[in-house]
This record gives sequence, C-alpha cells and structure tokens, in this order.
Amino acid sequence: MPAKEQRTLVLVKPDGLQRGLMGAIISRLEQRGLKPVAMKLILIDTALARRHYAAHEGKAFFPGLVQFITSSPVVAMVWQGKGAVEVVRQLMGATDPLKSAPGTLRGDYGLDIGRNLVHGSDSPEAAEREVALFFSQKEIVDWPRSVEPWITEP
Ligand code: RTP
Ligand code: MG
Repeated sequence: MPAKEQRTLVLVKPDGLQRGLMGAIISRLEQRGLKPVAMKLILIDTALARRHYAAHEGKAFFPGLVQFITSSPVVAMVWQGKGAVEVVRQLMGATDPLKSAPGTLRGDYGLDIGRNLVHGSDSPEAAEREVALFFSQKEIVDWPRSVEPWITEP
C-alpha cells in the first residue's frame, strides 16, 4: 500500500442489506475514488460484535447495538485510498441521521440513530484494529487499478 494511503473498515449494516441499499452505499465509496481491497457478506456473532464495539461496552445503547448488528447479515469491506478513514466518515455523515447533512449516506437514507446503515472506522488506529478483527491478511487483495493516476496525483 502506498505510504500516503490508508485502509478503513466499512460495514453495510443489517438495515442497509434489508432495505436494498448495499449497492447505493458501495457506489458512493466507489465514485469517490476509494478502492475496495476486501469484501464479504457475513452474519456477525455476539463475540465479534462485542469486540468490534468494545469501546461502547457499559453504555445504555450497547445491548441494543449488539442485538441489531447480529440480527441479520452485513457486508464487511476494506476500502483503501488517500485519507480513506476521514473520507468514509464524511461520506457516512453524523451518527444520528437526523443530524446528518443531506448528501451523506445517513442524511440521505436514514432517520434513526439505531438504524444508521453504515459503519466506518473512526481513526487510523481503530481502522487497523477493526480490519484485523474482520479480515485475515489473505483476504485483503491489494490489486493495481489502472485509473489510479486519474484519481490521485502520483
Ligand atoms: P459506527 O461505529 O456504527 O460507525 O457509528 P458511529 O461511529 O457514528 O457512532 P458510535 O459513537 O461509534 O456508536 C456506535 C453505534 O451505536 C449506536 N448509538 N446509539 N442511542 C444512542 O445514543 C446511540 N449512540 C450511538 C449507533 O447506531 C452508532 O452507529
Ligand atoms: Mg463508531
């Protein structure tokens, strides 16, 4: 991976799949210029959910969050590119869709903080931890993309 690029974990949450918004969400990441380097549809088990959201353990919303994220499949992905962590957070919008700007994924498709469609790592350190939680090294494919110089100046 080039030094100026980052990787980040993205989940299309259960509500995103159930509502048929997986394609719309993936399209926005693609259109921005980020590159997918890993992708799978999985049912998250309770142990993985608790580890993934460990920072929220003890908060009032934690049991509901674990219940929701394990209730139906998600699409787990790793996206790579310049500023990928921050870029995905901007594309997602604020945690509460009622406060998310129009044009963001949550601002365009969501209404409820507990049904906010998409997850993105919130820092480079979290991204590293979360990518390793969901994917083995073998599952991450750093493929060359011919359009790269038209997205990022070499
Ligand atoms: P995520 O981790 O899922 O990408 O969302 P986020 O960074 O924007 O928000 P975070 O603070 O990490 O919270 C994780 C998820 O917990 C639910 N939540 N509910 N009721 C509440 O006050 C509350 N706060 C957070 C949301 O579904 C949020 O995505
Ligand atoms: Mg978070």
